[in-house]
Amino acid sequence: MGSLLITGIGSLVTNDPSLGNGPLGIVTDAAVVVSGEEVVWVGPASRAPAADDAYDAGGRAVIPGFVDSHAHLVFAGDRTAEFDARMSGLPYTAGGIRTTVAATRAASDAELSAGVARLMAEALRQGTTVMECKSGYGLTVEDEARSLRIAAAHTDEVTYLGAHVVPAEYTADAYVELVTGAMLDACAPYARWVDVFCERGAFDGDQARAVLESGVKRGLVPRIHANQLGHGPGVRLAVELGAASADHCTHLTDADVAALASGTTVATLLPGAEFSTRAPYPDARRLLDAGVTVALSTDCNPGSSFTTSMPFCVAVAVREMGMTPDEAVWSATLGGARALRRTDVGRITEGARADLVLLDAPSHVHLAYRPGVPLVSAVWRRGRQVV
Ligand code: NIG
Ligand code: FE
Repeated sequence: MGSLLITGIGSLVTNDPSLGNGPLGIVTDAAVVVSGEEVVWVGPASRAPAADDAYDAGGRAVIPGFVDSHAHLVFAGDRTAEFDARMSGLPYTAGGIRTTVAATRAASDAELSAGVARLMAEALRQGTTVMECKSGYGLTVEDEARSLRIAAAHTDEVTYLGAHVVPAEYTADAYVELVTGAMLDACAPYARWVDVFCERGAFDGDQARAVLESGVKRGLVPRIHANQLGHGPGVRLAVELGAASADHCTHLTDADVAALASGTTVATLLPGAEFSTRAPYPDARRLLDAGVTVALSTDCNPGSSFTTSMPFCVAVAVREMGMTPDEAVWSATLGGARALRRTDVGRITEGARADLVLLDAPSHVHLAYRPGVPLVSAVWRRGRQVV
């Protein structure tokens, strides 16, 4: 494959402060050269080297592809009625997960795979070039293993979430034994990560610890659903175990925030969940001011957050969670990469994977300034234009 010069970039977000202005390392009147799957040159257009092909960005903005580090895409069925009832005043409970479990168990591999492909294609059109995918709607050894096998056909970022809820046919203790035993044996070969829903009504602190520690023993890296619906031990457990990310972080004590600030665990905020459950948003400002690394993700799932749109999450995070547009765009790109412990994505720098998004706008600020407007004009993933 020949090299490509993308030039005429009015504003380029590199996410490398040494390359440009501010924490996003913004270069104005910029160019990028891509060769094969990689970025090989970044700088002012006036100094760009020659390449085999050229693309004129027309003065518009280019940002790194979004890194969506939290999504539940392997499912069947629909929960429109549950959403509709919630918007008429009913509260969100994680109990709805069981509705999706029943539909998922009844679906064929082909149906589940087509669903993942459709949602990932939808996300790609909105600029997402890396998307994590969890199991968690199978909850039997066979259904969790096939969920992960299907996820692994679509992404490298695969997460074993057998501990999503306790299925009706088990006691909690018996189910934890399964999740940490035979189910883990069947699932570990397909997954990179182990996750648990640590919440009242799902798994308590001791059960969550057992799930994560058993995964670690099998070579999986922990991440956690924590403090979504109320206070609890999940966030502190994540930091103690050196989890890559604690996700949701909606209800935090000062001790939780201090723990996150002292450790390496990223706080991944999921505004789509609060939007779709009409719950108060997490306080990103509080976390950022404490020095916590914050990521933004969609949490795409049929129950609590049925969106694949990272631009939507950026806009809500700016409007409702105290983030500046710069912070929200960083969190949706390099923040997501940090949450997935990836150094090759989330930035536009020499040697990075060539995942780039051209916006139909003069700057990344428009992602929040023009909410709901389809601003993604072109997407390159691994150096190939895919949108
Ligand atoms: O991240 N919190 C647990 N799991 C999902 C919700 C799943 C569902 O309601 O189906 C979440 O919000
Ligand atoms: Fe989730």
